[in-house]
Amino acid sequence: MKILAIETSCDETAICYLEINNTEKGLESTIHNNITHTQLEHIAYGGVFPAVAKREHQINLPIILDKIMHNQDIPDVICVTNGPGLEPALWCGITFAQELGVKWNIPVVPVNHMEGHILSILSPSLNSIENLTFTIPHQTFLLPAIALLISGGHTELVLVKDIGDYEIIGKTRDDAVGEAFDKVARILGLPYPGGPEISKLAENFNGNNPVELPRPMLHSKDYDFSFSGLKTAVLYLVNDVKKDNNDIIPESTKSAIAHEFQVSAGEVLLKKSLTAVKDFGTQSFIVAGGVSANTHIKQVLREKISDYIDIDNIYFPDNGLTGDNALMIAIAGYFKIQKNPDVIYNDIKAVGNLSF
Ligand code: KG4
Ligand code: ZN
Repeated sequence: MKILAIETSCDETAICYLEINNTEKGLESTIHNNITHTQLEHIAYGGVFPAVAKREHQINLPIILDKIMHNQDIPDVICVTNGPGLEPALWCGITFAQELGVKWNIPVVPVNHMEGHILSILSPSLNSIENLTFTIPHQTFLLPAIALLISGGHTELVLVKDIGDYEIIGKTRDDAVGEAFDKVARILGLPYPGGPEISKLAENFNGNNPVELPRPMLHSKDYDFSFSGLKTAVLYLVNDVKKDNNDIIPESTKSAIAHEFQVSAGEVLLKKSLTAVKDFGTQSFIVAGGVSANTHIKQVLREKISDYIDIDNIYFPDNGLTGDNALMIAIAGYFKIQKNPDVIYNDIKAVGNLSF
């Protein structure tokens, strides 16, 4: 099956042309083309600006499609992200997909963005695979699984009962963890997106003049998170430091804050994940979304969760697939089509707060 997948839920305009053939060995997959364009226009605004995202998607979709379709056959199906995400941005992808569907006379299938993130772990590293061909085993990961989805828009713990059957068991009550990374970065005077900047800065921390930040909801008897108070604690701390230092934050304090913020976020993500893994007795654990690129968080989760789950059953996406991309939408779309081969999706709508 030849799939053209389109992802425009936020500030990445992404298209992937993936072919998947079901064989005895597994799902033989070939990435014919895969392009992710990150909109740099948002840097000036310090965050994603929906009207700019929409304009840039509209400009870039046809340009990327031309490159993707060069020397390729018309695909069998188009898969498009319909939520969750920014509605004006989602509509760009959906409208574009529907027009192509009519032009090529092929079906268009809506795909859940968060399911895409979960299934992003089924692709091996894009740098390591030869001829961009890989096999997804028939036995994907042990079920049920717990998935921790950490991105700029979401922080969720999901019980994966089966591929296509998900239950959100916990989520953030305010800011997403990636959003908190971005806001803390802004407080420290670092550019957007803040996650990678905080991560780099934290590496400079040498143990001198440590700072203390809270661990929000660490002991709450649920699987929920809260990151807004952590960000505010950073703001108060920075204001105090500035008052004592002629409005300047010393570099050593910046790296101490970045380090402590990461440690705090990692600790609560770990505690809730571990509780979920134990409570549901799951044998596999998946981490996905932009923040899953964070080396510290990755390390903490891998090390501590492996006390309960075999390390081979703990999954992170390849670093090139932690952020938004269309390959994950193609993979998730394939599984959705296999489960419901006869469903025709006539009325695809963008749903900003779409759940599973
Ligand atoms: O999944 P994603 O690309 O987009 C959304 O669906 O939100 O996630 C983007 C988020 C941003 O908040 C960004 O700061 C964060 O992921 N991020 C990181 C790192 N790389 C990206 N956060 C922490 N450490 C990183 N290395
Ligand atoms: Zn995402």
